[in-house]
Amino acid sequence: MSRTPQGQRASLDKQPHEVAAMFDGVAARYDLTNTVLSFGQDRFWRRATRSALELRPGDRVLDVGAGTGVSTEELAHSGAYAVGADLSLGMLYAGKRTRPQVPLLAGDALRLPFADASFDAVTISFALRNVNDTDAALRELARVTRPGGRLVVCEFSTPVNPAFRTVYLSYLMRSLPAVARTVSSNPDAYVYLAESIRAWPDQEALAARVGAAGWGRVAWRNLTGGVVALHRATRE
Ligand SMILES: C[S@@+](CC[C@H](N)C(=O)[O-])C[C@H]1O[C@@H](n2cnc3c(N)ncnc32)[C@H](O)[C@@H]1O
Repeated sequence: MSRTPQGQRASLDKQPHEVAAMFDGVAARYDLTNTVLSFGQDRFWRRATRSALELRPGDRVLDVGAGTGVSTEELAHSGAYAVGADLSLGMLYAGKRTRPQVPLLAGDALRLPFADASFDAVTISFALRNVNDTDAALRELARVTRPGGRLVVCEFSTPVNPAFRTVYLSYLMRSLPAVARTVSSNPDAYVYLAESIRAWPDQEALAARVGAAGWGRVAWRNLTGGVVALHRATRE
């Protein structure tokens, strides 16, 4: 964990206590910072995630790494019963204050507090990248999903157009941390955000890892030119 006058950020080995402490520090202004840094695209990404999950009224859906519940709340618009789990108590408390109607509980993506096959669908938005064992998290998501159930991973990815990719990486590494200093309660977390996105597998590599973790029919769809990718799969 690095500590600077700007706050604190986790290192890329993503120790759970460091990740949780870093998100505790961003919780107060998390939702606003997201919308500012993504130019409002976050709302579109969340709606696309809900749509890709093909939820039906009465389905049970688990949102892992739910944070303040902003992603969980969107899922409930389908009529499904949506519950969120997160490692950071600071994020969960912020969510309890702003969205008291959203069920949120403490839980680690690597050891979810649910029985096997409890959910019709599971999803994880902008959180898989922060878990220190991606493959184990994907297997744990499969464990709590019923056979035939759906997975959608919504995560930053690799823009497909090379010119756009160059501009985007420059925004990520230079402008984004600077803008975060004006809005976030823990700007250093946004340096980690930029570093962790750069180190994250591209669309094809992530699809291979999803397929190796007990999921079938893996496919992905790029959003915003590949800034974000939705990986969709079915529990075998
Ligand atoms: C960038 S936020 C995403 C929040 C929300 N899903 C959204 O779409 O805005 C990432 C969240 O993942 C959580 N997280 C990181 N590692 C986790 C783990 N091992 N288990 C559960 N949550 C985790 C963090 O605490 C944080 O709240």
